[in-house]
Amino acid sequence: MRHDMLEDVARVLLTAEEIQKRVAELGAQISRDYEGKNLVMVSVLKGSVVFMADLMRAVTVPAEIDFMCVSSYGSGTRTSGQVQILKDIGQDLTGKDLLIVEDILDSGVTLSYLSKLLWARNPNSVRLCTLLDKPDRRQAEVQVDYTGFVIPDEFVIGYGVDYAERYRNLPFIGTLKPEVYQNS
Ligand code: IMP
Ligand code: MG
Repeated sequence: MRHDMLEDVARVLLTAEEIQKRVAELGAQISRDYEGKNLVMVSVLKGSVVFMADLMRAVTVPAEIDFMCVSSYGSGTRTSGQVQILKDIGQDLTGKDLLIVEDILDSGVTLSYLSKLLWARNPNSVRLCTLLDKPDRRQAEVQVDYTGFVIPDEFVIGYGVDYAERYRNLPFIGTLKPEVYQNS
């Protein structure tokens, strides 16, 4: 049976064009701030992979990239409050200027954990960049340096962000129809 993902979308929150414009601004700001530094952009898999791919190409200073994979969710829509490292960075981070690139800052549990973990490895600096910030549900205190968009407390999908591992390949950020959750 044919099934188009677009049929499951309730509302588009951020269009592909709006996202691209903001990503270009963030890239320009990061490029100014990291002039002469040892920038390593650390993408938090899997949600930030689309954002990372666009953001790194909007950065004009030399940069390395690396990846971490953490899980705090399972397949539900609420955080479990526990962070599990599924893939770690291989390289020595001494003296590096790390920029953690995340899709969504929600409870803050993931980013506060990652930030502490990476600071312990003797880098020169650690900063945080998130495409989306949902401040309403914050549990852990996190200081973010670069934010794409502040959004309300709604479950979103698209542009890398999933519901039960799906919808990451939508080019925009949107919400799902309630029946999508009910049927799973
Ligand atoms: P935190 O630890 O609660 O801040 O969790 C942040 C992570 O939860 C993000 O990187 C996302 O992977 C996931 N997350 C939070 N809100 C949403 C959402 O609305 N849709 C999909 N994933 C979400
Ligand atoms: Mg994530």
